[in-house]
Amino acid sequence: MTSSELKTQFFKYFEARGHKIIDSASLLPDNDPTVLFTTAGMHPLVPYLMGEKHPEGTRLVNVQKCLRTGDIDEVGDATHHTFFEMLGNWSLGDYFKKEVIEFSTEFLLGILKLDKEKIGISIFGGNDDVKEADTESENHWLDQGFDKKRIQHIKENWWGPAGETGPCGPDTEMFYWTGQGEAPEVFDENDEGWVEIWNDVLMQYNKTADGKYETLKQQNIDTGMGLERTLAVLNGLDDNYLTELFQPIIKKIEELSGKKYEDDKRSFRIVADHIRSAVFVMGDPKGITPSNKDQGYVLRRLIRRAIRFAKKLGIDKNFTSELVEVIIPIYQDDYSELKDNKSFIISELIKEEEKFIETLEKGLQVFDKLSSQNKLDEKTAFVLFTTYGFPVEMTLEMAADKNIKLDKTKIDKELKQHQELSRTASAGMFKGGLADDSDNTKRHHTAAHLMLEALRRILGDHVEQKGSNINEDRIRFDFSHPDKLTDEQKQQVEDIVNEQIQRKLPIHFEEMTVDEAKKIGATGVFEHKYGDKVKVYFMGDFSKEICGGPHVDNTGKLGGFKIKKEQSSSAGVRRIKATLN
Ligand code: ALA
Repeated sequence: MTSSELKTQFFKYFEARGHKIIDSASLLPDNDPTVLFTTAGMHPLVPYLMGEKHPEGTRLVNVQKCLRTGDIDEVGDATHHTFFEMLGNWSLGDYFKKEVIEFSTEFLLGILKLDKEKIGISIFGGNDDVKEADTESENHWLDQGFDKKRIQHIKENWWGPAGETGPCGPDTEMFYWTGQGEAPEVFDENDEGWVEIWNDVLMQYNKTADGKYETLKQQNIDTGMGLERTLAVLNGLDDNYLTELFQPIIKKIEELSGKKYEDDKRSFRIVADHIRSAVFVMGDPKGITPSNKDQGYVLRRLIRRAIRFAKKLGIDKNFTSELVEVIIPIYQDDYSELKDNKSFIISELIKEEEKFIETLEKGLQVFDKLSSQNKLDEKTAFVLFTTYGFPVEMTLEMAADKNIKLDKTKIDKELKQHQELSRTASAGMFKGGLADDSDNTKRHHTAAHLMLEALRRILGDHVEQKGSNINEDRIRFDFSHPDKLTDEQKQQVEDIVNEQIQRKLPIHFEEMTVDEAKKIGATGVFEHKYGDKVKVYFMGDFSKEICGGPHVDNTGKLGGFKIKKEQSSSAGVRRIKATLN
């Protein structure tokens, strides 16, 4: 089975059961204060899991582009990736455990024709917070004819909440045996022969601010099936890199290096995985460039790590663009943005490659010298970053290879002082997390809409949102504009926003097609397909913008708006930090 056949089967199956297909959201989340990338299909859907009405109804199906760097150390094995595609079916307060387990079983056995004898299942086994094991799900699996020995109770089988509070619940995961010989009679997820392919999250609780778990009014289903892994399993492969999604990349690396995949699988996999991720991050409609901050830093780290491993394979330079030439054709039918942004992706990769290659050799020499003289410490790791551009994590990894342990918090401290990295960079920038829906975050989110409209009125219609990061404390907002704002322009924007706050404008949203939204002049990221339904938020008569919400219901609830900082974000993009009081 091919990747596109698998996607088609998934969509067809769930469409026939009342699900509406929705597009993958951007890899770079909007209005999400704590997360740098979309790490699961649930991220863009959080408002709807929390009870907002989704324009397409209560049953959805999608394939979501995801990027996770939490598992980056495991990339290099047969099944882990930084970028991956996740197939998901969703119930927003519609069906629950019984139905999702029936759907999962029927899809795996009836549609994909997987061997029941090779399936293992884990369910939530109870933990200190929620003591009861999810025996309800276990019983549904037993009803589907699965053997009790193949069902394992795991206390970590829990997903969410998104932020500190919110919907969460037990999950039940499906594994497939790819190990040698017959599948063991008793399922044990710690045995590496079992590969997790699908996760059904059963969102039945709301975690409250005081740490309690209340039963949710709206029970949701969030599922995630790893496309690459499932594809491998369906083709009888125990290595995702042997699938059609990776083979052209692996072959190209063989050609460029003169080595065989079998010679050094780990390096091949890291290069293939990381450059594929970089292509998707830069090819996103809200594409970004490598930098020393936030998402740009993660991107830089991926590219530089790939360059280091390519070097290990004997590839010296100018290989990234050659890989782009084979990666884009694999994906261009499903993600036309990659083709549209191809020249941007290639030119940025070449720039980054050239920049790093200049210092890599020297940096490696310095590293070797310091480590052989036992002089490698946190201070020198810091210098390797600032002088030779070695991402800190790369130095830590190279040090660990030589059994030298460095304290990352100490390096972070140095970096903080140096102010090269933003606060988020040194404070868990690679950890996931999601938008909270606290009142303050909602107020800031609403103010961001007012600010965008005010910027357009003062600076012109070329101003478009390029990204935002909104939390309880502040708005951070990127927009297209070539020049620094004058003090007068900043004052005008503040005045307009404050005027709208004083006007106490009522806020509401309407659902319409993308085409209708365009017709009425709504702003926002038009990344949906023609004909898709979207929500347009109206701030009185002042602004209309495509947005999933949530917002407060009246601009009168915002308080005084102030621009704290205005600076360059990247070429042609400015960044404002603003607060409410
Ligand atoms: N949100 C769940 C996951 O990512 C489905 O595994």
